[in-house]
Amino acid sequence: MEDCMIKVDDVSRGFPLRAGNAPAGGRKTDEGTAVSGDTAPLEDTASFGDTAPISGRDSERIFWALHHVSMEIPKGQLTILRGRSGSGKTTLLNIISALDRPTEGTVLLDGQDITAMTDAQRDLLRRRHIGYIYQSVALIPMMTAYENVEFALRLASSGKGSSQTRIPRKEWKMRVQDCLHMVGLGSRMTHMPQQMSGGEQQRVAIARAVAARPQVLFADEPTAELDTTTGLQVVKIFQTLCHKEGVTIVMTTHDTGLMELADKVFSLEDGEIIGG
Ligand SMILES: Nc1ncnc2c1ncn2[C@@H]1O[C@H](COP(=O)(O)OP(=O)(O)OP(=O)(O)O)[C@@H](O)[C@H]1O
Ligand SMILES: [Mg+2]
Repeated sequence: MEDCMIKVDDVSRGFPLRAGNAPAGGRKTDEGTAVSGDTAPLEDTASFGDTAPISGRDSERIFWALHHVSMEIPKGQLTILRGRSGSGKTTLLNIISALDRPTEGTVLLDGQDITAMTDAQRDLLRRRHIGYIYQSVALIPMMTAYENVEFALRLASSGKGSSQTRIPRKEWKMRVQDCLHMVGLGSRMTHMPQQMSGGEQQRVAIARAVAARPQVLFADEPTAELDTTTGLQVVKIFQTLCHKEGVTIVMTTHDTGLMELADKVFSLEDGEIIGG
């Protein structure tokens, strides 16, 4: 049996419904009322890390973005979460990557229950063991490619607690260079973000996300703003990272052309897994 890195057990995520906070997609609420399909601003409800307990009268006004999701994500492989807009991909990714908490259910990351951890424990876990890549690249504009990647090592080595995975200061230069070479940017180290193409910037973001040797890398629509060829190149880098560095990668995408590159694909529809 393959090794499991993330075990999702009966996870549901509800968002309180308020006036003007109707989710996209026209789904039904617990009251059985049809919800308007208009996309409403998500405002403060999109909080990371703290799910307000839902009880009493409130429980009738909940929009369930995820319903009883259970899945096992294999270690050292590339897993894709697919599904149309509003199906719950980002919600699920945020929960399994310790950015958000489920309303119900548990998530084990490498055997540890991240849903039972304190905020401080989750913060340390995120900095030391998890890498993140987003749809729009968020590089620091006044830092070169090299400095952006090095910054991740600084962050990972700051704060309390010891870690075997922490990279010693004297090895930073080598690690940053290796990571930039790995994404094919050995000749762009001193470029500023604005001097690079979108695809190059996304590759710097990948180098930055893996620099501190995270066990797991989460990427939310990392290819959405790239052309097909560049998107394919990014996912091929993910494959290399899984197979050469043993990183477990979970990414979301709409792009059906990328599915065959994944070791495992889960399809989401209306907050439920419909195929794995
Ligand atoms: N903070 C929130 N408050 C209320 N509803 C929310 C909140 N976040 C997400 N939702 C709703 O949950 C559902 C799933 O959202 P999610 O962002 O996970 O979808 P997605 O599959 O990532 O979509 P996309 O492909 O467009 O990024 C949507 O209907 C959305 O409107
Ligand atoms: Mg999304």
